[in-house]
Amino acid sequence: MKQLANQIAVVTGASRGLGRAIAWTLAEQGATVVAAARTADKLADLAGEAKAAQLAGTIVPRALDVTDRAAVEAFVEAVVGEFKKIDILVNNAGITRDSLLMNMEDEQFDEVMTANLKSVFWLTRITSRYMVRARYGRIVNISSVSGVCGNAGQSNYAASKAGLIGFSKSVAKEFARRNITCNVIAPGFITTDMTDVLPDKVKEEYKQIIPCRRFGEPADVAAAVAFFASPAAQYITGQVLAVDGGMTM
Ligand SMILES: NC(=O)c1ccc[n+]([C@@H]2O[C@H](COP(=O)([O-])OP(=O)(O)OC[C@H]3O[C@@H](n4cnc5c(N)ncnc54)[C@H](O)[C@@H]3O)[C@@H](O)[C@H]2O)c1
Repeated sequence: MKQLANQIAVVTGASRGLGRAIAWTLAEQGATVVAAARTADKLADLAGEAKAAQLAGTIVPRALDVTDRAAVEAFVEAVVGEFKKIDILVNNAGITRDSLLMNMEDEQFDEVMTANLKSVFWLTRITSRYMVRARYGRIVNISSVSGVCGNAGQSNYAASKAGLIGFSKSVAKEFARRNITCNVIAPGFITTDMTDVLPDKVKEEYKQIIPCRRFGEPADVAAAVAFFASPAAQYITGQVLAVDGGMTM
């Protein structure tokens, strides 16, 4: 039997990039994955592909804007209503609105903090109620090397991703006795739409500071998420795992 058989997982921002790979990997491991993103059309394609590939689990598409608190709460209630529990929560949805600090507008800062951090507070707060009742939970939050080391032009994004680390460690401490773990993945440069927009020159410069000398693939991050999300990771909580080709070692 697959290690995530009979488990219900929620993955946000699952329409593309890392979230898509995470949803796929968890379904491969047997989970029923509620894949959420702002619009459900790409998610429906993903669910269809998972079905065609005869994965052990299934992907269930659901529209959700994580920056809408009422929608987040209604979403979790609906998932629990339908599937009775949430074993795994992967907070992956995230955005960038890059700018040098001196030119950064309040809106750019607030938008990133809401999408990347406050949304995680909302989703984790309501989901944890059900995990506490079930005395089981695996929460995995997707931060970034920018949140660990900082990055010029990303003071808003780095603040949100560093905030996620402090948030996750606090959640880990609150729930450790209840068999609920909360861990963080800090991806380095992974090939997705988010990094495709970088100029080629910048990409080449980054490759020179990555010991592996290449960008990672979404599947590299998904494999690490699947481990934290598994029953086998029961004694690991409050940790930050860099998936970055050695960039921050
Ligand atoms: N790609 C990288 O190199 C990299 C590195 C470090 C961290 N990350 C983080 O990994 C996560 C995924 O990044 P990616 O590269 O796949 O990005 P991406 O832009 O390709 O995908 C982001 C996903 O989040 C979703 N999303 C954005 N705002 C949302 C909202 N308000 N409600 C619901 N969904 C929303 C998008 O629809 C999309 O599915 C992000 O949190 C990002 O900060 C990525």
